[in-house]
Amino acid sequence: MTLLPGTTTATTATDCATPVQFYFAVDNSKVAARRVVVSSDKCNACHVDLTFIHGGNRGATQECVICHNPTLADGTSKQSVNFATQIHSIHRGNALANPYVLGTTNYQDVGFPGDLRVCATCHVNDSYQVDNVGATALVASPGGFTATTPPIAAACQGCHDDKATAQHAMLNTGTLGESCIVCHGKNAEFSPDKVHSRTQ
Ligand code: HEC
Ligand code: HEC
Ligand code: HEC
Ligand code: HEC
Ligand code: HEC
Repeated sequence: MTLLPGTTTATTATDCATPVQFYFAVDNSKVAARRVVVSSDKCNACHVDLTFIHGGNRGATQECVICHNPTLADGTSKQSVNFATQIHSIHRGNALANPYVLGTTNYQDVGFPGDLRVCATCHVNDSYQVDNVGATALVASPGGFTATTPPIAAACQGCHDDKATAQHAMLNTGTLGESCIVCHGKNAEFSPDKVHSRTQ
C-alpha cells in the first residue's frame, strides 16, 4: 500500500495481519497441534516485530517452522535452514567456528547482545532440555559435515559447530538413535543447565 499518496512524502509499505493459527487434519487422523519450543514474544524483546525478515509478512515463530523444517537447506551454501539450526547459528554469529552463510549473508558478523547460555531467552517451558526434544526427523545438512544430522545433535551443533563436536555426537549415536540424554539429560552430570551455568 502507499502511505500519504499524492504527497511528497508518499511511501510504499507492506501491510499484513497478525497471523491466525489453527490446526486441522489433512486425513482422518486426530488433530495434534505443533509443539511450542520458542515464542514470538521472546524474540520480539529484541526484534520488536519478526515480520522484518520476509518483507513484511510471516511474523510468528509457529509459522517459520512450516517452511524452516528439517528438509529445507540454503540454495547456495546447502547449509540447514531448519529453524533450530538457523536461529542458533545466526545468533552464535561471531563465535561460530565455521561460516554460516545464507544467500550472500555471512552471519559471522552478528554479535549477540546477551548470553546464549541463557536458553530461556528464546525457549519456553524447558523445551531446550534434551529430554523434551520433540523433533524426530533427520535434518538435511548437505553443506555440513554429513548429509543429514540427527535432531538433538543438529540443535546443539547450531552453536557448537566445530568438527570435533560433530564427531562426538556421531560417536554417541547408534542404530537405536541418539544417546545424548545419558550424559546431557536434565538430571545428568553434563545437563544443559550445568554446562551452561554462568557461574562455572
Ligand atoms: C537478545 C536479543 C535477541 C533475541 C532475544 C533474538 N534475537 Fe534475533 N537477532 C539479534 C541480533 C542482534 C541480530 C543481528 C542483527 C544484525 O546484525 O543485523 C539478530 C538476527 C536475527 C535474524 C537474522 C536477520 C537477517 O537480517 O538475516 C533472524 C532471522 C533472527 N534474529 C530471528 C530471531 C528469532 C526467531 C528469535 C526468537 C526465537 C530471535 N531472533 C531472538 C538479537 C536477538
Ligand atoms: C512460506 C515459507 C516460509 C516461511 C513461513 C518463512 N520462511 Fe524464511 N525462508 C523461506 C525460504 C524458502 C528461504 C530461502 C532459503 C535459503 O535458500 O536460504 C527463507 C530464507 C530465510 C532467511 C535467510 C534470508 C536471506 O537473506 O537469505 C531467514 C533469516 C529466514 N528465512 C527466517 C525466517 C523466519 C524467522 C521466519 C518466521 C518469522 C520465516 N523465515 C518464515 C521460507 C519461509
Ligand atoms: C536466539 C534464540 C535461541 C536461544 C538463545 C536458544 N535457542 Fe534453542 N532453539 C531456538 C529455536 C528458534 C528453535 C527451533 C524452535 C522450533 O522448532 O519451534 C530451537 C530449538 C532447540 C532444540 C530442539 C527442540 C525441539 O523440540 O525440536 C534444542 C534441544 C535447543 N534449541 C537447545 C538450546 C539450548 C541448550 C540453548 C541454550 C544453551 C538454546 N537452545 C538457546 C532458539 C534459541
Ligand atoms: C544457543 C547456543 C547454544 C546451544 C544451542 C547449545 N550451546 Fe552449549 N554452550 C554455548 C555457549 C555460549 C557456551 C559457553 C562456551 C562457549 O562460548 O563456547 C556453551 C558451553 C557448553 C559446554 C561447556 C564446554 C564448553 O564448550 O565450554 C557444553 C558441554 C555444552 N555447551 C553442551 C551443549 C549441549 C549438549 C547442547 C545441546 C543440548 C548445547 N550445548 C547447545 C551455547 C550453546
Ligand atoms: C557418555 C557421555 C556423553 C554422551 C552420551 C554424550 N556426550 Fe556430549 N559431552 C560429554 C562430555 C563429558 C562433554 C564435555 C563436558 C564439559 O566440557 O563440561 C560433552 C560435550 C558436548 C558438547 C560441547 C562441545 C564443546 O563445544 O565443547 C556438545 C555440543 C555435546 N557434548 C553434544 C552431545 C550430543 C549431541 C550427544 C548425543 C548425540 C552427546 N553429546 C552425547 C559427554 C557425553
